[in-house]
Formats: sequence, C-alpha cells, structure tokens
Amino acid sequence: MAGAAPHTPSDALVFFGASGDLARKSIFPSLYKMVKSGNLTVPVIGVAYSQWTLDDLHQRARDAIDATPSGVDDPAALDRLLSLLRYVDGDYQDPTTFTALRDVLGECGAPTHYLAIPPSLFGTVVQGLKSVDLHRNARVVVEKPFGRDLQSARELNSVITDAFDESAIFRIDHFLGKEEIMNLLYFRFANAMFEPIWNRNYIESVQVTFAEDFGVRGRGAFYESAGALRDVVENHLFQIVALLTMEAPTYQGYGAVQSAKANVFKAMRPLTRHDYVRGQFVGYRDEDGVAEHSDVETYAAVRLFIDSWRWSDVPFYLRTGKCLAASAGEVVVNFKRPPQALFNDALDPDQHPNRLRFRLQPEGEIGLGVRVKRPGEEFVGHEQELLLPTESPLEREPYERLLSDALQGDSALFTHEDSVEAAWKVVDAVLTDHAATIPYQPGTWGPEEAAGRLIGDDGPWHNPQPHARTYSAPHNGGHAR
Ligand code: BG6
Repeated sequence: MAGAAPHTPSDALVFFGASGDLARKSIFPSLYKMVKSGNLTVPVIGVAYSQWTLDDLHQRARDAIDATPSGVDDPAALDRLLSLLRYVDGDYQDPTTFTALRDVLGECGAPTHYLAIPPSLFGTVVQGLKSVDLHRNARVVVEKPFGRDLQSARELNSVITDAFDESAIFRIDHFLGKEEIMNLLYFRFANAMFEPIWNRNYIESVQVTFAEDFGVRGRGAFYESAGALRDVVENHLFQIVALLTMEAPTYQGYGAVQSAKANVFKAMRPLTRHDYVRGQFVGYRDEDGVAEHSDVETYAAVRLFIDSWRWSDVPFYLRTGKCLAASAGEVVVNFKRPPQALFNDALDPDQHPNRLRFRLQPEGEIGLGVRVKRPGEEFVGHEQELLLPTESPLEREPYERLLSDALQGDSALFTHEDSVEAAWKVVDAVLTDHAATIPYQPGTWGPEEAAGRLIGDDGPWHNPQPHARTYSAPHNGGHAR
C-alpha cells in the first residue's frame, strides 16, 4: 500500500476519462476556475482512449469552458490552463499506457490520480498505476457510484486499498462540495440555539426532495445500470441526511466529521420493499440505450429511520426523480405541534406545524415557518416564513472545491470506506427486492403511491417551487436576487 502523506500538496493532477462527458460538463470548467483563483499551478495530464492529440484536448477544454454561463472571461487564465495540460492516449488494459503516463509525469513524484471513468474500469486503472509504481506517494480520487451494491463496493475497496492507503483514497460525492450542503453542517453547529430541539422530542418528520425537471440527457445506458436509488438516494441524499442528523464533531479535524457521519450511516435501518416507491417517467423507454421493457426507476421515494437515541422513530422521507415538475432541492424539518389545542385552528389538519426549510438548489434559502395570529377577533393564524437568502451556489463549482482539496490532501469533504459500505447495507435488500416501477407523466411530482401509501399521515410532501421565495430574476445576465 502507498499514498501521499496527508496535507502534502500534489505536484501533478492526472485525470482519466479526459475525453468523457463529466470532463466536459464539470471538470474543465472547474480546472479553469482553479487556475483563475491560483489553486492550480501544477501540470494536468489528461488520459483517455480516443485517438486524440494534445490539440484535441485543448479544443475540448476551450469548448467546455465556452459552454458555461460565464464563458471564457479571462483569456490569460485559459492560456495558463492550456499550458499546464498534457495528454496520454491509450487503452487502460495496455501496460504501455501507464509507462507513457510515467514518462509524461517525468519529475513529478507526488501526483493525484482522478478516475473520472466508469466504475468497471477503476480496478484496471489502479492495477495499471501500481504496475509502474505510480501509486507511490500518490492519491487517488474516485468518482461515484462506488460499486453497485454492498458486495461490489467491498470488492472495489479491496482492489483500491491493495494499492493505496485509506488516507490516500478520496471518494468523491460532489454534493459535499456544494455551498448550500456544506452550510447544513455549519448552520447546525454554529448556531447552538437549535441543538436543544434537534431530536425526536421536537421533530416529527423530515423530508428531503431532490427533483429534476429534465430526463436522462443522453445517459440512458448509464442510467440503465444505475437507477435513481443508486444514482442519487444512496449517496447524495444519504449524505444530506447524515449532515442533518450527525452528532457534533468532537474536534475541528476532518476525521471528526467523517466518523460522526459514519455513525449515522451505521444507525440507518435497512430499507424494506414497504419503505420504497419506484416510478418511471413515461417516455423513458424511448431514450437511447434504454431497454424496451426496462423496469429501471427514474423516481425513487423512501422512508428511512435512524435507530439512534436522538432519532428513534422519526421518519425521514427522501425522494428524487427525473422529469418532475421543477428542478430544485429542499429539506424540510417538521416540528411537533403544540401539546394542547389552545386555538380554534390548532386541529385543522391542513395547518403546517413549525418547520425549518433549507433550500439547497438552484438558489440557497433558509425559511423558518412559524404561525402568526391573523388580525381580528378570532384566535386563528397562518404560517409565515422568516426568510434568509444564502450565498449563490453558482459562485464556486463543487469540483473546483473538491479537486483543490484533493490536491492539498484535505479529505474533509470525501467519504470513507466504512461510510460507503454502511450506506450500501441500508439499500442492499431493496436493490433487488422491490415492487415494479409505476409510470408517471413528465412534469408531475411522480407516482401517487409516494404521497399515499408511503408518506400517509406524515404528509403531504412539500413540493419545492422552481425558484426560491427570495429570488429575483437577473436583469444583467448574471445571477441575482
Ligand atoms: C449526479 C447524477 O451524481 O448528480 C445525475 O448522476 C444528477 O443523475 C446529478 O443529475 C445532479 O447533480 P447536479 O450538481 O448537476 O445538480
């Protein structure tokens, strides 16, 4: 086993999958921003099997940055990025690809290897790196999905830990690099006033919705092997739940957050088929790469329990889906009702109890829903939200943050092996033991069963609006409120 010492800066970034979709959509724009902010000054070696040249890689980088909302707004930074780029073309099965990479790395002796490739290739690439000693004094950054069930995640862990020390393995979940999601951790532990009520005595239920109003965007073949539960619930939504429910870290180091989160994953009760509603949007089967009779879910809603002293019996309702009615991510924490019905409207089932709403995207916002008396003779009221806009998540790309951290050896926002395996244990049974998908029309909030059978009296679901309440449309092409 090998690996760079924690917090030793890397002297090169190698990224496998340089010609791929993720590189175009997220990585090149992030590398460009890293150059602009001075966080990237080391050589960047793209590796792919596409019969490309360095010129092709340059072109891809330019096009990818051009396609972002701000485009190439700093031509000198783009030139600096291009001057850092190197390229190695080759089959990952072929040992000469790795000897060529070693030659290109030259004097760089402490690289970070980023695997932006399908998980089926992780093992091959790790073994290739090891065969030419490129695992020594190095780190490896691994993209999700990390395995496709408990068994494969364990196998993958064993292949990677055969070459790299656990402290040198950085498992990426890009949601953890989003400002609004980092703010969940900050908000909870920087405001001690919430702590006394942050438990089963005061909280009735929690909802997490991550909705997208678009389909699989040409990724039908990938989606067929994943589905919404693996693609979003088991990683992104579980991470959000862990940040919401973890105990306070006991010290400032990253290890403290990692282990507090791992304890949450370990306390999650394994899901059964009764906790899970699967949907598929009408039209999915016509997508390229999708089987004619596919039963892969494009919508997943689950009811989850955390069997811990703090959270016992509090239901967490999580849902995600493609082609839903809006693109937005929100968490709603519902508090219990007052113990006695003192006012005329107290028993009205349509009245919300107090709730705290974290809007995570596309804009950040925190809303505290409280009841206020309506003017008049009667003691009846209505819900008002105290609203707090938070920073725009567009300001920093998650990958910009995460790749910078990996290059510096800071693993606070990455996931450990024990958390990954514990999360798979929660979903493992329902990956195969589940009801068939229920069709739903694009533009809706998914199958009715999620509203009826699953959430029942703990409902209704809170459906996020397309925009934050504090959002005001941009007037100068920028993102404004
Ligand atoms: C990815 C999933 O991990 O996250 C996609 O594979 C999903 O299916 C995406 O669309 C959502 O992330 P973001 O940052 O684009 O909202």
